[in-house]
Amino acid sequence: MARHETQHPPKVAVITGASSGLGAELARELSRHGWSVGLIARREDRLMTLADEIRQAGGRTAIAVADVSDKAMLLAAFDSIRGELGAVDLLIANAGVGKPDFLDPFTVDDIEQMIRVNLLGVLYSIAAVLPQMIEQRRGHIAAVSSAGAYKGMPGSAGYCASKSAVSTLLEGLRIQLREYGVSVTTICPGFVRTDMTDVNSFRMPWLQEPDAAARKIVRALNRRKKVYNFPWQMALMIKLLRWLPDWFIARTLPRKSDVVRNNE
Ligand SMILES: NC(=O)c1ccc[n+]([C@@H]2O[C@H](COP(=O)([O-])OP(=O)(O)OC[C@H]3O[C@@H](n4cnc5c(N)ncnc54)[C@H](OP(=O)(O)O)[C@@H]3O)[C@@H](O)[C@H]2O)c1
Repeated sequence: MARHETQHPPKVAVITGASSGLGAELARELSRHGWSVGLIARREDRLMTLADEIRQAGGRTAIAVADVSDKAMLLAAFDSIRGELGAVDLLIANAGVGKPDFLDPFTVDDIEQMIRVNLLGVLYSIAAVLPQMIEQRRGHIAAVSSAGAYKGMPGSAGYCASKSAVSTLLEGLRIQLREYGVSVTTICPGFVRTDMTDVNSFRMPWLQEPDAAARKIVRALNRRKKVYNFPWQMALMIKLLRWLPDWFIARTLPRKSDVVRNNE
């Protein structure tokens, strides 16, 4: 639906991690399709710039600053957005961090942060919208997981673990929420050109532009897909990888990090 066909009343989507990359593009795309968009992230300046852009294009938006790994702060951010835009019809829990693993010293703190942001951030976001969706017996919960959820990759085991936990969480909730009229979509992108991947020095196969990826995601959400793996080439490759022996993967795949941090 294009903006000139604005929905009445406009539906409300809240996107976490909306200050850059996929989250910002999802906000633009949903706004173009007539949604009111609530934007959450830590960088307020980025949120304000995006909100200005959306309003100038005729969209309706509200921002709230929060760290998704801080439950109280995040719940307050959702309350503030609900206060401005109304009840949430669609949640896209997109905020995430990706860091390479090093073994010596073992980067426990980085992995802990990925679990806090990528997993607990999604959990708290769901907690912020679930009571209202269950009460209204409608709504749509989506989270951005990753193709990495399907396979523990050398050098990004922590990231993959956090994302497979997200996918599993959503899978169980999806089945449980059927009787409450709440849809759940797990989004598993391959590589997308964003700040997160700009630091990668290895070749990223089937790298997608963030605006194109956001268009695909919104189409998948409109179809209420249960799990959206894209691009298909990456989805297929990850399925094949699951069957390959460890020695082959260790020898052939680019890894995000080496064993010792100062080898970077
Ligand atoms: N790019 C890829 O190839 C790719 C592939 C598969 C999945 N993904 C997933 O896609 C999602 C979006 O990532 P991206 O690629 O668009 O990277 P990005 O441009 O770095 O965006 C990450 C977003 O998450 C937010 N964020 C990070 N930590 C946060 C925290 N503690 N609290 C609140 N917000 C936080 C950032 O905002 P602030 O810094 O302003 O808080 C930013 O808006 C992530 O979940 C990522 O894992 C990306």
